[in-house]
Amino acid sequence: MIEVRHLTKDYGPHRAIDNLNFTLNKGDVVGFLGPNGAGKSTTMKIITGFMAPTSGEALVGGFDVFENPIEVKRRIGYLPETPPVYLDMSVQDYLQYVAELKGVEKNKKSALVARAIEKTNLGSVQKRMIGNLSKGFRQRVGIAQALVSDPDVLILDEPTVGLDPKQVAEIRDLIQELRGQHTIILSTHILSEVQAVCEKAIIINKGRIVAQDTIENLSRVDKGQLRLHIRLAKDLNLSQTLGGAQGIVKIESPKSKEWLVDVSGGDEVLENISGLIVQAKGGLLELTPSKLDLEDVFLKLTYGQDSGVPRDPQDSATNAISTGVQGGSK
Ligand SMILES: Nc1ncnc2c1ncn2[C@@H]1O[C@H](COP(=O)(O)OP(=O)(O)OP(=O)(O)O)[C@@H](O)[C@H]1O
Ligand SMILES: [Mg+2]
Repeated sequence: MIEVRHLTKDYGPHRAIDNLNFTLNKGDVVGFLGPNGAGKSTTMKIITGFMAPTSGEALVGGFDVFENPIEVKRRIGYLPETPPVYLDMSVQDYLQYVAELKGVEKNKKSALVARAIEKTNLGSVQKRMIGNLSKGFRQRVGIAQALVSDPDVLILDEPTVGLDPKQVAEIRDLIQELRGQHTIILSTHILSEVQAVCEKAIIINKGRIVAQDTIENLSRVDKGQLRLHIRLAKDLNLSQTLGGAQGIVKIESPKSKEWLVDVSGGDEVLENISGLIVQAKGGLLELTPSKLDLEDVFLKLTYGQDSGVPRDPQDSATNAISTGVQGGSK
């Protein structure tokens, strides 16, 4: 539904996005995640046809955004960073106006405006002037105008910015509800937002994609690495017991009789480890695998942080690409 190939944008001498490649299939709900200045808004402006790239191309529903801008805009609902709302219009009049601009058929207009108002919970303020609404309500009007033509694709640039926690939860529910009806790409720098509503994430840093995959796989970005928390009844030296066993990456003991073992591999590795401990009569009380937290992955990829160990973000980016995360999502 959306294809981005070799997309690059320079603002003067500054390269804001650098050779982005990704594909979104129909019905995907994808989080575009990255710190401030990563290039999220720039990418969205290009996909929606509001800005030309320096090189590369973007296609929506098979149409090139610059060769067929009208076809593309017909298929897209876009919430820009600053919602394009007219302060001296009522919510309802504004949404009617946007529906007309988007070429919605006359006989469908009222129903679609009513649907957008209902979905964004704007019923109580629909007759009020937009200029008199609070920031959170204006943001909802921005989302309503993106929805009003019932587009195939929704592109939402930080949809929850400026909202209070209750409104944030409502917008998340709304996005959940829209799942299946639209292909959705939403940008954010809030990780929990992506975890709450998206199936996939594209992580961008300094204009480059550092990872793109399902949320599930991103949590295993370090080549499927797991960390095992092991608690023993006996004072067994696990470094010796497990030394040389298959799939062991690192062993350390933060406390007496407690061990953290990083392993790479599947259930067979866990079975082997538990077998060796039992064989050595270590008194295995607990063996709990925990995936790397997505937050750790995100920090590592974007800021080069790994449990306090500084890393060069460029190294992390290369690392992610070499693990096959890059370009893996279809
Ligand atoms: N019109 C512009 N002229 C010059 N530089 C720009 C312009 N717009 C963006 N940039 C620069 O391009 C880079 C990417 O900006 P962009 O707005 O796409 O980032 P973002 O990921 O959306 O950030 P944020 O989370 O702060 O919204 C930044 O370094 C920014 O300073
Ligand atoms: Mg932005």
